[in-house]
Amino acid sequence: MADTDGLKVAKNYQIEVPFANQTPFYVKGANNLDWGMKKHLSNIFDPKSGRTVMFAFDHGYFMGSTAGLERLDLVVPKLMPAIDVLMGTRGAIRSCIPADCKKAIALRVSSGSSMLNEDLSHEIIAVDIEDSIRMNADCIAVQTFIGADGQLSSIDNLSQCINAGLRYSIPVLGVVAVGKDMERTDRFFKLATRIVAEMGANIIKTYYCENFEEIVAACPVPIVVAGGKKLPEREALTLAYNSISKGASGLDMGRNIFQSEHSLEMAYSIRKIVHEGFTDKEAWEFYQDSIN
Ligand code: 5RP
Repeated sequence: MADTDGLKVAKNYQIEVPFANQTPFYVKGANNLDWGMKKHLSNIFDPKSGRTVMFAFDHGYFMGSTAGLERLDLVVPKLMPAIDVLMGTRGAIRSCIPADCKKAIALRVSSGSSMLNEDLSHEIIAVDIEDSIRMNADCIAVQTFIGADGQLSSIDNLSQCINAGLRYSIPVLGVVAVGKDMERTDRFFKLATRIVAEMGANIIKTYYCENFEEIVAACPVPIVVAGGKKLPEREALTLAYNSISKGASGLDMGRNIFQSEHSLEMAYSIRKIVHEGFTDKEAWEFYQDSIN
């Protein structure tokens, strides 16, 4: 490990320079991966736009049944036409999702927290690679808690999943958690996203923040943005637009879709931003037209 004396703050992100190792495979940082990894990534990221609309419904792994997800069997199938990837637990997917759904699967494999815990940062690998293969997972999602008490064990979980994923050609989605004491600043997210990418994750999920374009530039693999707590639809669409326009490779929204009064229309509106170049204003107009 390099010594930490004389650490210089990174500042030269060369935002205007595209990622260098981008051809011939279109997913950032995946050029040197094998066929199977690339096939899974192409199931996640649209070859034309290079982006993805993930629908996150894995909240139950630590929140139990949350508002808007009371009936997984009704909520998720209804949204299928508007999304590219299902992000859920094996329990939710196996019990409630038709196997012929033709959607990519982002399988939540880390667990161990619950809303009853004060500290959510101590998790385990709950799903082994064999069951991820059985579930036909296109990526396996592991929570990482940089800066929290559970940092080391979460990096160990991530590394074990990356090692197993490389053995069986399944990409890893490193989920950057933000503990209640952590600040949602670009300084934190630059540190956390880069650590998770350097560990070998193939996709990073994090939150949007100021200077997001610098976080994207410094991260050698695609970043998808989590929606976070429910916002008014107009604000959620602006969050989506800002994320995409600053370089995100997609959105992985949950509450801003399933807690919307018009969840399917909301998912379609996000899709317009992700895949069709809509601005937030255009997507908001599309949303309003869709519900009236
Ligand atoms: C929950 C998660 C969710 O996948 C992630 O936070 C996205 O959901 P939302 O948009 O509701 O935040 O990791 O543990």
